Amino acid sequence: MENVEAMERNSGWWKRAVLVLVMGWAVFALSGAPGNAQHQTVNEESKLDPLQVRLGERLFREVRFTTTQGDLLTSCAICHLTDQDPQGRRVFTDFFNRSWIPFRREDPRRTEIRNSPTLLDVALMPRLHLDGEFKSLEELVAGTFSGRPMGWLPGEEEQAFDQIQSVLLADKATEGSASYREQFKAAFNVELEKLSRDQIIGLVSKAVADFMRTMRSRQDSPYDRFVKLNGLEAAPTAGESAKAFAARTLTKLTELEAKNSLKFGNGFNRSALEGFRIFLRTEGATSVGNCVACHAPPLFTDNSFHNLGVSQAEFDRLNGEGKFAQLAIPNAAAAKRPSAQFRETVERGRFGVADLGHWNFVDLKTSPLRRTGESDDQLLRRMIGAFKTPTLRHLAFSEPYFHSGDYLSLEDVLQEIARLSEMARAGKVREADEELPKIKLKETDIASLLAFLATLNE
Ligand code: HEC
Ligand code: HEC
Repeated sequence: MENVEAMERNSGWWKRAVLVLVMGWAVFALSGAPGNAQHQTVNEESKLDPLQVRLGERLFREVRFTTTQGDLLTSCAICHLTDQDPQGRRVFTDFFNRSWIPFRREDPRRTEIRNSPTLLDVALMPRLHLDGEFKSLEELVAGTFSGRPMGWLPGEEEQAFDQIQSVLLADKATEGSASYREQFKAAFNVELEKLSRDQIIGLVSKAVADFMRTMRSRQDSPYDRFVKLNGLEAAPTAGESAKAFAARTLTKLTELEAKNSLKFGNGFNRSALEGFRIFLRTEGATSVGNCVACHAPPLFTDNSFHNLGVSQAEFDRLNGEGKFAQLAIPNAAAAKRPSAQFRETVERGRFGVADLGHWNFVDLKTSPLRRTGESDDQLLRRMIGAFKTPTLRHLAFSEPYFHSGDYLSLEDVLQEIARLSEMARAGKVREADEELPKIKLKETDIASLLAFLATLNE
């Protein structure tokens, strides 16, 4: 992490390049040209209606829902790229460390507070956003269309919804594309002009949410093929802990190797196998990744929230070593959550401002994360700096990494995890997740883990 300035220069280059692309694409989108999402697979088992999904895709790319008071046009697809990236391989994420948002004088920021994550498999996630802000895809769509990503300020939700309604009603058919009225009629059998504004927003949310439900990983990566080829379990059985699953898989691997019957196959070599072992190992003196404790197969996430110390690392890098430990954070009774002060991009010289992640949204009454006997204060403290465990599939197409987007390569990420685990063992990570200090990695382990992570790309 020494070379932060070089990294910033680097991401600045991306920003300029992508902005040009994005603006070009916005014009293209305004002309109503249809497109095909990369990676979009038809979800066989579901009852998704193809017309509703197609409408959802068009709404996902609609730039006219952006506030007219900002300085750029945006849409879901501008931060979650579909087919407008040069390689055509992004997994519904952009290239920025933090996505650009329309500038508003009243809230003079240029960027989102976090890195935009992949949207693959969001249908399977119980909480959305890296801090768990939303409980459903529909809620997320309405909240995003009327929020800061589209240039709207808090309090402007009504205006945002009014604008969506007028854009939809005023839309005219063009050559090759039906009008929104016609598309809503075909998809939902409704007359758009007879619906209330809130009914319209409900259908918009449903269509876009259903479009996202079609964004699924295929699970046919070299890793998936290796698992099939060797008859390994693809996921823990119901009720089985990640730890027990890992122990079982490690034993099976050792047995197969002893019998000389382990099969490798395309894209999964010995180095990847060594990485897989480290990934699964949860105890021991060295070469323990303990990754499986949080990144459980098949999606390589437990859909839960953990503090790896990434917020602290960013805070201390900008404010001085040890400063995050001194930050005054209110207790459960005093805290007003979500908090603008604690859900903010960290900047040099703005001491007191931090990104505490799920601390902002954990529901002290209903959270499944509460342990028996734990008080409100204890639970809330444990959520300081906790973020949703991201999937580890398709990482080659979603850089930069971590919620801050400050880490350009996977090697940077793994070096940082190794460093933070050492700090946690020394008691130097504030409210570190208890699984963090169990990670024990040496330099060569990192190379093996990188080889393993590469087998998760499709
Ligand atoms: C300005 C860029 C931007 C725009 C526009 C935008 N997003 Fe996002 N999106 C992000 C960022 C950044 C995050 C991570 C936010 C967080 O965790 O706080 C995110 C998170 C998400 C997630 C959650 C993924 C997860 O793993 O929890 C979903 C789903 C999503 N966006 C869908 C949408 C949809 C649908 C739209 C349009 C209505 C949209 N986004 C518009 C940048 C954007
Ligand atoms: C205690 C739970 C936990 C453990 C153990 C853990 N991780 Fe993670 N991992 C997370 C969380 C939470 C994040 C997101 C942190 C953030 O952005 O602040 C993350 C982020 C990552 C990322 C960045 C992904 C992205 O899209 O930005 C990678 C890569 C990763 N972990 C790999 C690993 C590997 C490899 C191991 C084992 C050496 C490991 N993790 C161990 C919880 C864990």
